[in-house]
Amino acid sequence: MPAYSASAPGKIILFGEHAVVYGRPAIAVPVYQVRAKAIVNADPRSVPGMVKLQAPDIGLETTLAELPENHPLAAVLWKAASAMNLSHIPACTIRITSNIPIAGGMGSSAAVSVAILRAFSSSLGHPLSDEQISRLAYEVEEIHHGTPSGIDNTVITYGRPVYFIKEVKIETLQVKQSFTLLIGDTGVQSPTASVVSEVHQGWEREREQYEELFNAVGAITGSARLAIENGYIDSLGPLMDENHALLRKMGVSSPELDGFVEAARSAGALGAKLSGAGRGGNMIALVMPSASDRVVRALEAAGARHTILTEIRGT
Ligand code: MEV
Repeated sequence: MPAYSASAPGKIILFGEHAVVYGRPAIAVPVYQVRAKAIVNADPRSVPGMVKLQAPDIGLETTLAELPENHPLAAVLWKAASAMNLSHIPACTIRITSNIPIAGGMGSSAAVSVAILRAFSSSLGHPLSDEQISRLAYEVEEIHHGTPSGIDNTVITYGRPVYFIKEVKIETLQVKQSFTLLIGDTGVQSPTASVVSEVHQGWEREREQYEELFNAVGAITGSARLAIENGYIDSLGPLMDENHALLRKMGVSSPELDGFVEAARSAGALGAKLSGAGRGGNMIALVMPSASDRVVRALEAAGARHTILTEIRGT
């Protein structure tokens, strides 16, 4: 019996996190240096319907029947089965591995769902379309995050830079000139749902101020889009700095993230900001390739657990 495997990349948000939940645009790119992977092996000699799940990274070894239906790994399989009109799930073993930091703003949960949906549907001879995969991964994100904008499942499913507005047709972003980003991981886990919910509380308390912050972020994202599409890479750095300042005003930065941003800028980055939900997770810095080693050393000295250098290639 052949094994079916699929992988899905991590992601970072370049501009617009949080504001995107309130209908403003955001820009995100896939990060292929980190991935979630799912391998499905049919077990025809096993008990019919017995689905074994192995996720060694989180110490999970169980069966589908033992997981609550709203457990994200169970939910993704039940949703896939329903999308494929399966009356039962054939016996199989599904192994999930990932080197995407958990709760680090790099889309680990969406990447796991996308990899499972691809491998599982292919193993049954009904590969789901990207549109179906993104929608089902979104529904699972709702379990993790409550009110996700949909940007994570979208950029991870399509694997291309996206300009994203909630509930609006997906736009792929043309990148005129390649640019390099350095990602610095604080190692602090920060569940998206709790940060998103705190921003929501802030918005309920001070609606006008938060709407202004979101509008300002939306304008920055619009300018960033023009800069990326026209190859004005130099102007992206200051836009990242401005976006970070607005995220601080929303209260989603942290001493670690601010320290990384400062360290990166002092070492020659053209701009830097937190990326994702904030409070922990990752910071991104725009770097000239010639300055990248210096910025890596500065981030390590500031306490970065890992750094990833990634090039956003011209399209
Ligand atoms: C999480 O990667 C980005 C947030 O904007 C939440 C969302 O868009 O669902 C913080």
